[in-house]
Amino acid sequence: MSGLAKGRKAIFITGAASGMGLETARLFAREGWFVGGVDVNEAGLTALEAELGAENCLVQQLDVTDRDAYAAALDRFAGASGGRLDVLYNNAGIGRGGPFADQPWADVLAVVNVNFIGVLTGIHLAIPLLKATPGSLCFTTSSSSATYGMPMIAVYSATKHAVKGLTEALAIELKPHGVRVADVLPALIDTPILPEGAAAAAPKTGVFRAIPPREVAETVWEAYHSDQLHWYVPRELVALDHMATLHPEQTRDAMAAGTLFATIDAQLAAATPLPIGATAG
Ligand SMILES: NC(=O)c1ccc[n+]([C@@H]2O[C@H](COP(=O)([O-])OP(=O)(O)OC[C@H]3O[C@@H](n4cnc5c(N)ncnc54)[C@H](O)[C@@H]3O)[C@@H](O)[C@H]2O)c1
Repeated sequence: MSGLAKGRKAIFITGAASGMGLETARLFAREGWFVGGVDVNEAGLTALEAELGAENCLVQQLDVTDRDAYAAALDRFAGASGGRLDVLYNNAGIGRGGPFADQPWADVLAVVNVNFIGVLTGIHLAIPLLKATPGSLCFTTSSSSATYGMPMIAVYSATKHAVKGLTEALAIELKPHGVRVADVLPALIDTPILPEGAAAAAPKTGVFRAIPPREVAETVWEAYHSDQLHWYVPRELVALDHMATLHPEQTRDAMAAGTLFATIDAQLAAATPLPIGATAG
């Protein structure tokens, strides 16, 4: 039992200074885990360390698009955790959008780099640690925008589809090595990534109501204790995934008309809907 973690289970979280990452750090620390928290937001990390206690975490400033820095951060984390990595939670993301034709190219590349290349980097580097840790989970934040491509956040949406596809493929590749791979598809979570006023303007009920980030943290916890592949927050969001798969043209047309979310809510309310299968595994 070497290292600061003293044999405790250990989670490594990107984007740990805010929103879902922060709530996940809090929840796992409360459950007695050792937390590795990385983010570009140094002030947020300092606050996280003060909250959790320096003996319960290792916070490091990291831009997930920097592969060498990511490798160094994982090395330091492994030193503190005694070489174990029970959960890798690749969660850092940015939400720049707008009409694709008008999006500055720098923004397009930044979204791809943070939301997808950052995830690829983290997983690629962490596989040896995950393999060395019995029962480990490789978990990533995808999005409801990975159910059907969403206009005005087209590049963001594409990166989240990429995460979902990567998750499915790696779940098969890594299973023989004892590593589970899963992701979470959140709908509208009340965090600073949202445009100002978006949470307040959201409907008070239905699939796209504003949900506190604590519910995503609880989902990460549940995912660690399960073999389920895709996690939807809220759970009924899976209806949109089914509709997008089974009826892509209808989904496209409803999305274009701005009626998609109301259609899903109406189907769920009428209880005549597309199957809902998001039960805890
Ligand atoms: N909030 C939502 O409605 C929603 C819905 C679906 C998916 N998501 C996804 O959830 C994840 C978490 O976002 P959130 O909603 O908690 O937002 P958030 O802005 O509160 O947290 C994101 C964190 O990622 C960090 N980050 C950004 N770029 C980084 C980089 N290059 N390197 C390291 N850290 C970086 C930010 O500093 C921030 O602390 C993101 O991947 C986001 O795309 C959010």
